[in-house]
Amino acid sequence: MTHRVGVVPGDGIGPEVVAEALRCVEAAGVALDVVTHDLGAGRYLRCGEVLPDEVLADLRACDAILLGAVGSPDVPAGVLERGLLLRLRFELDLYVNLRPFQGAPNRHNGGVDLVVVRENTEGPYVGEGGSLRRGTPQEVATQGSVNTRYGVERCVHFAFDLARRRARRHLTLVHKTNVLTYAGDLWRRCVEELAPGWPDVQVAYDHVDAACIHLVERPERYDVIVTDNLFGDILTDLAGAVSGGIGRAASANLNPDRTGPSLFEPVHGSAPDIAGTGRADPRAAIASAVLMLEFLGEEAAAERIRAALAACEDVTGTTAEIGSRIAATVAAKV
Ligand code: NAI
Ligand code: MG
Repeated sequence: MTHRVGVVPGDGIGPEVVAEALRCVEAAGVALDVVTHDLGAGRYLRCGEVLPDEVLADLRACDAILLGAVGSPDVPAGVLERGLLLRLRFELDLYVNLRPFQGAPNRHNGGVDLVVVRENTEGPYVGEGGSLRRGTPQEVATQGSVNTRYGVERCVHFAFDLARRRARRHLTLVHKTNVLTYAGDLWRRCVEELAPGWPDVQVAYDHVDAACIHLVERPERYDVIVTDNLFGDILTDLAGAVSGGIGRAASANLNPDRTGPSLFEPVHGSAPDIAGTGRADPRAAIASAVLMLEFLGEEAAAERIRAALAACEDVTGTTAEIGSRIAATVAAKV
């Protein structure tokens, strides 16, 4: 079966790393029907468009979306985040942001093998709030955090299911229940109330500040972490930094109910500081394509690319050199 994939290369290093991801998918023998969409800072600066309705409709009709990265210092903060990235998450109901991390033991810790399940459609990212008397000494700014029973429960449900499929079967809720008492209470009760449905999964809780210490010093403590949108955003940058760096961190924005396509993208941004220099590591984008293939049911191809990524772990070179080496390793195994 051919999968129709909407590809958004985006800005900066986005197109560079996406090209390598597609090269690896092709090497694994998976035929994709690719529809490329020009979205991001480039398009916005050229014609003021962020996400035209017809592009959204086309992406909605795809089986999956692969995105490089969008953003540029020339675009005001929030335009692409709210208008493109968050809009896609909300409109396509990509309610789970799944971010796996792996890293060999080192002198700081005993190794990383964990997955963060970040709630992706609520929390402080809903854009609730506003400002009053802006620019004056009496300025007021509020930014609400929305947490619904429906939204939290479906995310926690997904995390329990995932924990059950992993060897350790361990799930940690990360929050700040001692200070964010209303939202924290809802999250804590959702986990407690769902837990009996997964008696084989062991449940733990950490405050988010303590989790930052543990991620650095004792990441082996974690198997699956479930957390809210903002904590997940921050924790996953830290988890990326302690496990191979931002150039290797992959993510999946999932609609687990499959009422529409899911979106796969590296955790990193468009890295304007290194764009065009060939210094971008394509591994995060390639690993994101692996998550995409798994979700599309192409497990064998996903496993081949995963094995090639592991075999080429220490390969250095330009973006294209690393990508070609990994693709050649994939092809050799087909
Ligand atoms: P960034 O992730 O683009 O870069 C942070 C640092 O990591 C930079 O020093 C960069 O050179 C390095 N880096 C990132 N990816 C790398 C790779 N694959 N290989 C080697 N080094 C890599 O984050 P930053 O600088 O905060 O944002 C740059 C732009 O990207 C901004 O416009 C931001 O809004 C946007 N952005 C977009 C995201 C997305 O499309 N999902 C996510 C994060 C940021
Ligand atoms: Mg982030």
